[in-house]
Amino acid sequence: MTQNKHSVKPQTSIFSKGYDPQRSEGAAVPPVFRTSTFLFKTAEDGKRAFEIAYGLSPMKEGESPALIYTRVNNPNTEILEEKATCWDGAEEAAVFGSGMGAVSSTCLAFLRPGDTLVFSDPVYGGTEYYFRHMLPLFGIKTKHFPAGATKAEMEALLQGDPTVKAIFLESPANPTIMLSDIGAARELADQYSTPDHKILVMVDNTFMGPIFSSPLALGADLVIYSATKFFGGHSDLVAGITMGSKALMAQVKVFRTILGSIADPDTTWLIHRSLATLQIRMEKQQASAVKMVDFLLSHPMVYELSYPGLPQMGERQLELWKKQCTGTGSLITFKVKGGEAETFRVLDAIEHMKLAVSLGGVESLIQHPSTMTHSDMTPAEKAHAGITVNMIRISVGLEDVDDLIADLKQALAKI
Ligand SMILES: Cc1ncc(COP(=O)(O)O)c(C=O)c1O
Repeated sequence: MTQNKHSVKPQTSIFSKGYDPQRSEGAAVPPVFRTSTFLFKTAEDGKRAFEIAYGLSPMKEGESPALIYTRVNNPNTEILEEKATCWDGAEEAAVFGSGMGAVSSTCLAFLRPGDTLVFSDPVYGGTEYYFRHMLPLFGIKTKHFPAGATKAEMEALLQGDPTVKAIFLESPANPTIMLSDIGAARELADQYSTPDHKILVMVDNTFMGPIFSSPLALGADLVIYSATKFFGGHSDLVAGITMGSKALMAQVKVFRTILGSIADPDTTWLIHRSLATLQIRMEKQQASAVKMVDFLLSHPMVYELSYPGLPQMGERQLELWKKQCTGTGSLITFKVKGGEAETFRVLDAIEHMKLAVSLGGVESLIQHPSTMTHSDMTPAEKAHAGITVNMIRISVGLEDVDDLIADLKQALAKI
């Protein structure tokens, strides 16, 4: 018998990985396991399940964690976690009730009072608030460098500071679409780690991933997603995912269990359903975004358009894009000539895109970062991050792109 050595692509493996129909009466697709708790066959089994779940005794060869309680694990969560690793090639994933659940629980799993988190600026407004205002409440300091900074600029924050425990990159950054250097972060983390103080590299890959960028392959220890975006893809749920090695994810999952930040079975089932179309959605949305970028670049009222891979982003960004991405994505940020009033006129005139925050869904969304997603930042912080009152962010969906462009054209004419 010849062995089939052909290694299948994620788009094929997601249909079978992580789900055994024979464990669900032969159901072709997983049912929703809408249960809060699971029965143990014997008291001894229950005791062993908790020993493993709470890390009281290590798993033996051939053992796997038993189902206990839906805040700890659930078949829908586990099926999604296994399938979701197809693209990033992670050893393990953990699903959360939101992207912020993933960001906050993952950081808390590794940061301790006295530690410092270094992050690329800007990051999503919620993450920004968590870093600037919440982590310090627990004695965790944060400091930042501009997204796209050179290795030397990043190093300046690590040099002479043995408290740095993690480098957090949001790449591309929300809302400026600037890429950060994952390879440089890895090198610096290795250079400044000591045997008993390992510096971790965490990357929020929400904007590009998992189809157009694979941070783990580029050297990240952990990759984080708001699964509300492309993973879910239909603006009908809120969720998050963190992926990494088995050892790191074991720590993340203990924190998820105790903080109670796991996603519920219905949500995980819906994301599982969205996986089949994740690649095709992202590719189609990207194709439309490329066309929309062409239109916007030629519009006299538009300037400083940010889109990965564009020469206008500058040499360094272009170099990072070539190194880190296999696509350009479907998020576009640009400025219009005018102030807040002119910008609002454009936003209010749009007919086919929805005026709403979020991104990565099948419908196009348009929003105003300065007064919406990033409104928590002070004027100085916004200025530092390059977020201005005339900035607009678009997430391109699956509508007919010519209709979207015609819509933008009439809206921009209102300035
Ligand atoms: C890059 C990025 N990370 C994290 C989040 C937070 O995700 P969620 O809204 O699912 O909590 C968002 C939300 O917009 C985001 O854009």
